[in-house]
Amino acid sequence: MEKLKMLWSWSFLFSLILRTSTSLDNITVFQSLSDGETLISHEGIFELGFFSPGNSKGRYVGIWYHNMSPLTVVWVANRETALNDTSGVLKVTHQGLVLLVNGTSNSTVWSSTMSIKAENPVAQLLVSGNLVVKDGHNEENFLWQSFDFLGDTFLPGSKIGWDPVTGIERTLTSSKSADDPGHGDFKFRIDPRGYPQAVLTNGTVIMVRVGPWNGLMFSGATIYLRYSKLLPTDYDFIDKELICKLQPLHAYSVIRSVVTPWGGVQLLHWSRQTSSWETLLSLPEGECDKYAHCGANSVCRVTPAPICTCLEGFVPKYSRKWKDMYWSDGCVRITPLSCSKDGFKKHSGVVLPDTSTSWHNMTMNLQECEALCRKNCSCTAYSNLDVRGGGSGCILWFHDLIDMRQGGQDLYIRLPMSELGDESNKKKLVGMIVGSILFFMSMMFGLVLCLWRKKLEEPEIFWWKQRAHEREKDDMDLPMFDLSTIVYATNYFSSDNKLGEGGFGSVYKGALENGTEIAVKRLSIDSEQGLDEFKNEVQLIAKLQHRNLVKLLGCCIQRKEKLLIYELVPNRSLDTFIFGSFLKPS
Ligand SMILES: *[C@@H]1O[C@H](CO)[C@@H](O)[C@H](O)[C@H]1NC(C)=O
Ligand SMILES: *[C@@H]1O[C@H](CO)[C@@H](O)[C@H](O)[C@H]1NC(C)=O
Ligand SMILES: *[C@@H]1O[C@H](CO)[C@@H](O)[C@H](O)[C@H]1NC(C)=O
Ligand SMILES: *[C@@H]1O[C@H](CO)[C@@H](O)[C@H](O)[C@H]1NC(C)=O
Ligand SMILES: *[C@@H]1O[C@H](CO)[C@@H](O)[C@H](O)[C@H]1NC(C)=O
Ligand SMILES: *[C@@H]1O[C@H](CO)[C@@H](O)[C@H](O)[C@H]1NC(C)=O
Ligand SMILES: *[C@@H]1O[C@H](CO)[C@@H](O)[C@H](O)[C@H]1NC(C)=O
Repeated sequence: MEKLKMLWSWSFLFSLILRTSTSLDNITVFQSLSDGETLISHEGIFELGFFSPGNSKGRYVGIWYHNMSPLTVVWVANRETALNDTSGVLKVTHQGLVLLVNGTSNSTVWSSTMSIKAENPVAQLLVSGNLVVKDGHNEENFLWQSFDFLGDTFLPGSKIGWDPVTGIERTLTSSKSADDPGHGDFKFRIDPRGYPQAVLTNGTVIMVRVGPWNGLMFSGATIYLRYSKLLPTDYDFIDKELICKLQPLHAYSVIRSVVTPWGGVQLLHWSRQTSSWETLLSLPEGECDKYAHCGANSVCRVTPAPICTCLEGFVPKYSRKWKDMYWSDGCVRITPLSCSKDGFKKHSGVVLPDTSTSWHNMTMNLQECEALCRKNCSCTAYSNLDVRGGGSGCILWFHDLIDMRQGGQDLYIRLPMSELGDESNKKKLVGMIVGSILFFMSMMFGLVLCLWRKKLEEPEIFWWKQRAHEREKDDMDLPMFDLSTIVYATNYFSSDNKLGEGGFGSVYKGALENGTEIAVKRLSIDSEQGLDEFKNEVQLIAKLQHRNLVKLLGCCIQRKEKLLIYELVPNRSLDTFIFGSFLKPS
């Protein structure tokens, strides 16, 4: 802190001296800079000099905001090698910028390399915070610039992505820690595969897909933006290159984007009122931001639970694992595509799926886009590229849809006609109404039976009724078990408890808290006929009860689970009453 203060007061003095001195030379231009000296850009925004980050004693050459506390460094020259004393000198040579251990020995700690040798090289700190090397007073062509070698900070005026001329890839790389500006594990870069999208990586692994550019913003970041009045509107994304020209509120707004040492990316705004950095955007914000958290063909939403849901027309690949919240296997189609007979289902409010294997055309409209997708049997989805002005551009996907989450765009997903269309929807509705009437009737039938049996006074069958009485006095319906009771009784449907399996689902044995042994028929969750089978079963069992062959204790319909709970009769062959042909062909 002491050092910092000294540095500042010193630099203040330095700038004063220089500002009041000769006007012949531009004060931001230098040929040699020693530790202790600093250089201030025009308008007094940025400052170049030697500093020690955090608790470190090492000396680094860097650029930071002038007159700002805490010290906020935006670029570091010698990221990997610290100087151990204050003898360092930054010199401009014919090769470019060179950082020497001390002025007399020639051991180079860091150097910039220029493609062309300069005649009369000088370095200059521009008002944007860009440190440039140029030849004499040639204002236009920079021989070298720090904006081509960004550190962990993205400043207005800088670029990330792939330079169309030189082919250089510009990325942001995190620091190791607040004390060590060395290269950390995390990178913010433009992934050029397919339609370019911004990603945050850990080594070579994608952690967060900040998303493809939607004309206004990276689509994965849009919903997180706070203070929308500060929305930086002046970005440009051209092919694979993002140029940040943002000047959001007014010309003096101070905005930067940074990749943090702990693997996040932030957009920050300097608040003059509080003299601190306000976070406008911070990613990752939650589980959903983790790349492909829900696996393929699913959408991640923070609320309501569960966070992962399959797209319409898709079911979990492994329903058990999915139920246990192992999402990574994702979802698969219920009905395979049939190409010419397929249609498209609009899915609103999403971040477009991973675009790394997509195809795109910037000028096509949505109708042309749909036609193209329809023509190609392997096309799985399409969307607009640019959301501005009602939408334009076309992007097509040909594989599973990966890493969809809550966002602001529309996606059209290919589905077979059977999963779509008004007619099939009507049919479904009618089916559901008829189904529920049937179900209600069978329930009534069960109730009548139950009352009848009560008259016969068989208390062992009605133990549940006391329980039901305790909870709800008038409830005379077919006993409904709590899912958690059954889950506990069957030890989480453990495979050890599994008695068998059929087309309808599986049968588990278990024991209730009162010791009653039970057999639980669990109808498969994804089975379309599940509800019908269930209704049939209830009816059949009711008849069987009448004949006193099998004792149905109750059922459970909760969270898509359909369970039938029987009393387990150990001395009777299980097959006869669980898999018996009169019950269910399996
Ligand atoms: C100093 O820099 C400013 C801004 O970059 C420029 O307008 C001015 O012409 C420069 N002056 C000289 C003497 O180079
Ligand atoms: C400073 O000291 C560290 C550890 O002693 C060493 O690794 C590093 O190379 C030294 N830096 C220079 C510029 O000599
Ligand atoms: C600079 O380095 C040389 C060689 O390592 C050493 O002899 C000299 O004392 C150093 N000068 C200062 C000022 O540290
Ligand atoms: C350092 O380099 C300069 C020019 O590159 C050269 O003139 C000088 O002799 C060198 N000094 C040492 C100690 O190597
Ligand atoms: C980054 O990757 C490394 C090595 O694969 C791993 O140990 C670390 O936990 C990862 N960090 C984050 C934040 O994912
Ligand atoms: C994009 O589509 C338009 C209109 O169909 C077409 O004229 C143009 O050539 C296409 N561009 C590319 C790169 O395919
Ligand atoms: C469908 O698109 C894929 C990917 O662009 C392409 O490889 C394939 O040839 C296309 N098929 C037809 C029939 O156009």
